[in-house]
Amino acid sequence: MKVDDKFLRDLESKVLAYRARDKDSDHRKTYDEVFDRDTLMTLYDLMTNEVIDTLDFPIATGKEGNVFRATKHSGGYLAVKIYRMSNATFNNIQKYIAGDERFRNLGKSRRRTIHTWAQKEYRNLERMRNAGISVPEPVVCVKNIIVMEFIGEDATPAPHLREVEIPEPEKIYANLFGSLKKLYRKAGLIHSDFSEYNVLMRGGEPIIIDVGQAVLKTHPMASEFLTRDVYNLARFFRKQGMDLDEKTMLREITEDA
Ligand SMILES: Nc1ncnc2c1ncn2[C@@H]1O[C@H](COP(=O)(O)OP(=O)(O)OP(=O)(O)O)[C@@H](O)[C@H]1O
Ligand SMILES: [Mg+2]
Repeated sequence: MKVDDKFLRDLESKVLAYRARDKDSDHRKTYDEVFDRDTLMTLYDLMTNEVIDTLDFPIATGKEGNVFRATKHSGGYLAVKIYRMSNATFNNIQKYIAGDERFRNLGKSRRRTIHTWAQKEYRNLERMRNAGISVPEPVVCVKNIIVMEFIGEDATPAPHLREVEIPEPEKIYANLFGSLKKLYRKAGLIHSDFSEYNVLMRGGEPIIIDVGQAVLKTHPMASEFLTRDVYNLARFFRKQGMDLDEKTMLREITEDA
């Protein structure tokens, strides 16, 4: 793509405006790590193709990526997850891609691995939605950027399960246990990083996020990952006063599946 004056002006006003406003040097460092040249180009493509109009503010900075709220041309919001090309924890990523037959022919290049990783998350979102599981609706995935439904109340990002009061834990538990079960039995996947940190609460309903590391149930470490997910679910709801047994839960998920 040709880098002309308009490109630079648009980027200045749409992507980097809040970087300039933010005097905190840690934040600046993060922005500089996220917005490398290729990532800026991809964002610019998403803007010229009218997928998004502006990037508004960072919602969160994770180990491998940053999530931003974006505004659509038509108004309304989207969430944009950008995997950092610079310091993504590459080895961690490899563990979840190796062993997944969908990505058998992956080359060794770091760049390609990160693009594949973003695509894996996107495809996992699609597969989960098709199985009727409550996850953000995927919009598009280009290179290291995933655009998806913004989970929030109006303009504000939704809180995590761990941050909210839970008046009826049994109800939320039943919903999430049902999702893990459907995930395994219908989508043939295991989330592999399931916890109260990766569930957002919108209008009292739980929505599961962060599905990049979800693996097929044929993955060599599938049973270890499933056990960990189920333990995390049980641990959290036991703290809410529920009486739960992981072995029974695991059996119910996997029996005759
Ligand atoms: N679709 C979304 N709508 C609103 N907020 C979101 C959305 N997706 C992610 N977030 C927010 O961004 C945070 C980080 O997203 P996510 O967990 O997918 O990324 P991550 O880089 O894997 O993070 P971590 O390393 O902290 O697990 C979430 O905890 C949540 O607060
Ligand atoms: Mg997360």
